[in-house]
Amino acid sequence: MKNNFLGRSLCVIEDFSIEERIYLFSKIRELKAAVKAEDLETQQEFRIEDPNFGIYEVFLEDSTRTKESFRNAANFHHAKVSELATSSSSFNKGESYADTFNTLTGYSNKIFIVRSKVEGVCAHLAKECVEYANRNELTKAPSFINAGDGRHEHPTQELLDEYTFLEDNDFNYDNLHIALVGDLFHGRTVHSKAKGLTVFKNVTVDLVAPEELAMPDSYLLVMKENGYNINIYSSIEEYLQSNNIATQWYFTRPQLERMGEQILKRQEELRASITFRKEFMSKLPENTKFYHPLPRHKMFPTIPTFLDKTSLNGWERQSINGMYTRICLLGLFGGSIGEDFIQTKKVVEENFHDEEYIFSVEPKKSAKKVYSEGVNPIANGIVIDHISVGETPSDIREHMRLISKIIELDDCKGGEWVSQNNDGMFKGIIFRPGIRSFSRKELKRLAAVASGCTLNIIKDETVVEKYRTTLPPRIYNFDDLACTNEACISNPSNGEGVEAMFHRTSDKRYECVYCGKSHSFKEIWNTAKK
Ligand code: NCD
Repeated sequence: MKNNFLGRSLCVIEDFSIEERIYLFSKIRELKAAVKAEDLETQQEFRIEDPNFGIYEVFLEDSTRTKESFRNAANFHHAKVSELATSSSSFNKGESYADTFNTLTGYSNKIFIVRSKVEGVCAHLAKECVEYANRNELTKAPSFINAGDGRHEHPTQELLDEYTFLEDNDFNYDNLHIALVGDLFHGRTVHSKAKGLTVFKNVTVDLVAPEELAMPDSYLLVMKENGYNINIYSSIEEYLQSNNIATQWYFTRPQLERMGEQILKRQEELRASITFRKEFMSKLPENTKFYHPLPRHKMFPTIPTFLDKTSLNGWERQSINGMYTRICLLGLFGGSIGEDFIQTKKVVEENFHDEEYIFSVEPKKSAKKVYSEGVNPIANGIVIDHISVGETPSDIREHMRLISKIIELDDCKGGEWVSQNNDGMFKGIIFRPGIRSFSRKELKRLAAVASGCTLNIIKDETVVEKYRTTLPPRIYNFDDLACTNEACISNPSNGEGVEAMFHRTSDKRYECVYCGKSHSFKEIWNTAKK
């Protein structure tokens, strides 16, 4: 039977469908029960049991739980377990991620577990190392597991968190009411929840964080799109005054190492608003459980240690679940489990290739359209019309400057104009006298930088060709594109030579395929480059 999981990667949580996650949770449950019952035979069924099966840990950021639970999980499988000594590796000689991981791929390693400050690194490597494996006729390309990338995601933590919530919920997938408390801005474990909690049917999320540490808008938007009910509070104190307090609370640590100086100055006050205090105990609903991905700070824990011995303590079991989750995950990618998984719901792959974003419009036959070149009508040339309809004249002018730069209309005569429609709305028009044709690639650039406009090609005072544009679903393969997130693997400042690539989102913005950062169509262009 074909194993659906073999050789796959887990870069972001939605790399696993909901059904796949539910299957994984059933396996974790089975394994935990087998360990508890000392049922060695069942435990053996989970094992890869191959001393040549290479599992490699590459941690470029500190870690205790994730690294050690993965190492212990890998040892469970009786596999070949290695760890790259990153501080004495050729990373320090300026070697790229691709070269480093290609090398390790060549030494017959099958699963890489990667933690890095650089966001989107696993998605990049998953592509690179497949090509390397093909070039070198290696039998199998490796799997990549994201063990936390910068502020982006932490999908394996998300899996073990979901599993722990389920354990405390009688494995009820219908409802989840959870409070996310702490540093929601920098914490990747809570970012993974924006898409991760879709495993539950009805989700209510109470976000408890001071403004400086609030959940970024892009994740809020995803939560809303996924139908979560969202309530926002600025401190635990304020939250406890509400009349619908969750029984499951997920704390995250103030991530000082990722904070700017301005916020750091106020760390004490910010920490106080997300730290649980004794006097709050009486306000908690019955059967409340607290969770925390850990670590907590020994001097300033937001879950104080006196709570360890109370029934609120869900974080210790959560940490233990980390190892079982990771044993099962490695088992799936290594092929020891997963053959009996049945996907019943069709996973809909969006087909963007067929979507058209440049429409050729039939110009009016008789119309001798008079567009002006300053004071003279344009006899031959191009006119881009309907730019930024409805925006302010100064915004329109700025947008026209960008369009002119991106489609290389700066070095010729012509002009930009702001005009007003009959309904009073302003719009921009770019005139360029002189013959100029457009390739498909240039039309794509035009569509991406000026969607909703019309392009008129004028010959002998007649519009001979006319195009209308909408926002293309994918933008890539242009060397002046760049993700604006400096931590992203594709950001030019990281020097990894990764080509920027964006996907259009439902709110007509562009999301970086590596780090997920949301951009307006104006922000994706690295105008310094051209
Ligand atoms: C978290 C992480 O590294 O993102 N820890 C973990 O993996 N268990 C949370 C944190 O560092 O605060």
